[in-house]
Amino acid sequence: MTDLGLELTAIHKRFGDNHVVRGLEIALARGEIVALLGPSGCGKTTALRMVAGLETPDSGTITIAGQTVKSDAVDLPPEARRIGMVFQSYAVWPHKDVRDNVAYPLKLAKVADANARADRALELVRLAGMGDRFPDTLSGGQQQRVALARALVAEPSLLLFDEPLSNLDAKLREEMRHEIRVLAKQVGITSLYVTHDQPEAFAVSDRVAVVLGGVIAQVAPPSEIYARPASLAVAKFVGRLSILSGITRVGASRAKVQGFELDVTSATDATDVALGVRPEDVRLTDAGIEGRVKRATFLGERTELEIETEAGVLRADVAPGVAPDAESSVRVALDGGRLYAP
Ligand SMILES: Nc1ncnc2c1ncn2[C@@H]1O[C@H](COP(=O)(O)OP(=O)(O)OP(=O)(O)O)[C@@H](O)[C@H]1O
Ligand SMILES: [Mg+2]
Repeated sequence: MTDLGLELTAIHKRFGDNHVVRGLEIALARGEIVALLGPSGCGKTTALRMVAGLETPDSGTITIAGQTVKSDAVDLPPEARRIGMVFQSYAVWPHKDVRDNVAYPLKLAKVADANARADRALELVRLAGMGDRFPDTLSGGQQQRVALARALVAEPSLLLFDEPLSNLDAKLREEMRHEIRVLAKQVGITSLYVTHDQPEAFAVSDRVAVVLGGVIAQVAPPSEIYARPASLAVAKFVGRLSILSGITRVGASRAKVQGFELDVTSATDATDVALGVRPEDVRLTDAGIEGRVKRATFLGERTELEIETEAGVLRADVAPGVAPDAESSVRVALDGGRLYAP
C-alpha cells in the first residue's frame, strides 16, 4: 500500500491553442491538505476537474490512494474515483430536504442505510437535527455545510474543494476555513483545496502549491512559502512585497541598499539582484534610508504606508497613533529581506 493520497505526474491540458496545464506534478501524503494557490485563469479548476474525471488530460498520470485513475491505459469515470467535491456554488437541490441532499450519492449507489449515514455526516458538519429542513431555510454557510456533508457521506479517498468559501462573507469565510481544516484532519481524508486567496490557502493547508502559468512554481508549508519564496514571481503572489533595485550583494547573505547593509536570505546566486522586503521588515527610524510618505492608509488596527525611496517604493505597517502624514520625510531601516533574480 502506498502512503500517497494523490499523485499527479506530467499532466498537460490544452483547450485549442491555449496550453493551460503544462506539466503539473504533485504528490500528497495520505491525509494531507494541499492548497493550489494561483491567479485567476492559471488552471486550478482545470487541474481539479481532471482529478475528478470531469475533464480529460491530454497526457499524464493521476493516482488516488495508490489506484491509477488516469493514464494512457486507464480512464476511470468520476463515480469510480472515490472523490468528494465541494464547489463555490453550493449545488444543493432546492426541492430536496437536507437529509435527501446529503444521502443522494448513497441512494444513487443503492446503499441500504443511506439516511442514517447522511445524518452522521450532518453531525460531522454540525447540522445535526436539520435533516428535515429545506435549503432555502438555511444560511449560505449552512448550505455550504450541507454540500460538505454530501462530499463526506460516501467516505471518499479524496476531497476536492474549488473556492468553496467565495460566496460567503469575510467573517464566515474565516470561520469555515478553520472548520474545513479541522474536519478534514478529523476524518483523515486527503484534500486538494483550490483558492486564489492567499490567507485562505495558508489557513487551510499543510502545504501550499503556488500555480503560475500552468505549472507548480513552488510547493512548501505556508511559513516557508512566505519566508523563502523560490522566485520573485512566487514572492509577489504571496503576501505584500516591496521590490527594491540598485542593490549590492555583499556575500551570500548580506546586501547593501542606499549605503545601509542588512542580513538577507537568497533565492539566487546571481550578483545582479532585486531585494524583496515584507512590510514587517520595514521600520521607521532616525538614521536609515531616506524616503517620503506617498500614501498613508488608515485601516483601523494599523496604518499602511507607501514610502518612496531611491531604491523603490517600500510598503510598511505602523501603529495608527505614530503614523506620519502623507508627504512627510521619513527614514526607514530594513530588518530583513530576500534576494531574487530580477
Ligand atoms: N472548457 C473549456 N474550454 C476552453 N477553455 C477553457 C475551458 N475551461 C477552462 N478554459 C480556459 O483555461 C484557462 C484556465 O481556466 P481555469 O478555470 O482552470 O482557471 P482557474 O485557475 O480556476 O481560474 P479562476 O481562479 O478564475 O477560477 C482559462 O484561460 C480558461 O478560459
Ligand atoms: Mg477556478
